[in-house]
Amino acid sequence: MDKVVLAFSGGLDTTVCVKLLEEKYNLDVITACVDVGQPKEEIEKAKNVAESIGVFKHYSIDAREEFADDFISKGIKANAVYEGYPLSTALARPLIAMKIIELAEMEGVTAIAHGCTGKGNDQFRFESIIRSMSNFKIIAPVRELNLTRTEEQDYARSHGIPLSPEAKFSVDENIWGRSIEGDVIEDPKNEVPAEAYLWVKSVEEANSVPEKISIDFESGIPIAINDEKMSLIDLIAKANKIAGSNGIGKIDIIEDRMVGLKSREVYEVPGATLLIEAHRGLEGLVFTKDELKFIDYISPLYSDLVYNALWHEPLREDLDKSIDFMQRRVNGRVVLNLFKGHITILSRESKFSLHDIEQISFEDKENDQREIEGMIKHHGIQASIYQKQNH
Ligand code: ARG
Repeated sequence: MDKVVLAFSGGLDTTVCVKLLEEKYNLDVITACVDVGQPKEEIEKAKNVAESIGVFKHYSIDAREEFADDFISKGIKANAVYEGYPLSTALARPLIAMKIIELAEMEGVTAIAHGCTGKGNDQFRFESIIRSMSNFKIIAPVRELNLTRTEEQDYARSHGIPLSPEAKFSVDENIWGRSIEGDVIEDPKNEVPAEAYLWVKSVEEANSVPEKISIDFESGIPIAINDEKMSLIDLIAKANKIAGSNGIGKIDIIEDRMVGLKSREVYEVPGATLLIEAHRGLEGLVFTKDELKFIDYISPLYSDLVYNALWHEPLREDLDKSIDFMQRRVNGRVVLNLFKGHITILSRESKFSLHDIEQISFEDKENDQREIEGMIKHHGIQASIYQKQNH
C-alpha cells in the first residue's frame, strides 16, 4: 500500500484524517507531530492517540529551537501583529510544513496530508510551502469530503476514536500562543466562556500585587529577564508564565481571513504581547523619527505576508534583511510593570539611545534657548501666507 505522511496533533481533525486516509484513500498513514513548543502533554497525547488508533508509524519531531530562533525571533524584530494577533499559528505553519516535507522524503511516501478545513488560513500555509519546496501530492481529507465538525465527531464515535471534552473548541498551540476557535466562540454575540482560557488568568484571578520585570535586548532579540540570561525558547516560556499570571495577553478579535470571511478569533498570547510591547518600547529610544515611521509602515506589510501564507515570498526575505540591519541598534533594557492585564513601561535605556539628556533638560543653559527663535520665525511659512491671503 502507498504511504502518506500526515501532519498530526492528536486533535479531532487530524485524528479523523487518519481513519479517512486509511478507509477512503487506501493509504498507510505515518503521523508526524511537530513540536513547536506546545505543552509536553500535547506531544504525549498525540503519540498516545496515534498508537491507540494503530497508525503505521508515528514521529515526534522536535523543532522548538528552530521555531524560536528562525521564526519567532523574526516576528519579534518585525513587531509582527495582524489585526491584533501576534501570528502564533501563522509563524509555525511554514516550519511544520518544512519538517513534514523532510520526513516525507525520508520515508519515500507518495503524498502529504493535513487536517485543515476549507475555510481557514492554515490550508494555504501548509500547501503553499509544500508546493514550493517539493513535488508531493497533497491530500486534505476534511476539505475534500466537505466535512462539518459535527460530522467529524460522529465519524470519530463510529470509528472508536476517543473524543476529549475540550474537543468542542478547535485549538492550536505553540510556544508563541494558543489559538482557540469554534463552538460558542464562533458567534461574536457570545461571550467567550472562561473555560476556553488556559494560559492567561482572568483579571479577578490575576496576581493582586503589581510585578516589575526587566527585559534585556540584543540586536532586537530578548536575551534576559530580570538579569537572567536564557535561550529564546526558555525566555518565551518564562514570559508566558509571568504575563499570563498577570492577566496579560487575552486577545478577542474579529479577524479577516484569507478567504474573505470575517471570523471571531480568540488568542492567549501572554509572552508575545509582553515581548513585542517591550521591543517596540526600546525601538522608540534608538530609532530616528523617520526610522520609526518606516518600521510602522513595513511591520503591517510583514505581518500580512506571514498571515497570508507568504513566508516564502521574496519580499519577506528582503524585509528581514533591512530589519536585521536596523535591529543592530536595538540593544538595551526595558523595565515594565505588569498588573491585572496592563503593561506599563517604567524605564528604558540603551547605549544606542538617540535621546540627549543634556539638550532636552530644563536645567540646561549651554544650549542657548534664544537660538531657537530664528527657527520658529520660519516655521509654517506657507500656512502663514495662506492664512493672510484668506482672512
Ligand atoms: N486564525 C488563526 C490564523 O489563521 C488561527 C488558526 C488556528 N487554527 C486552529 N485550528 N484553531 O492564524
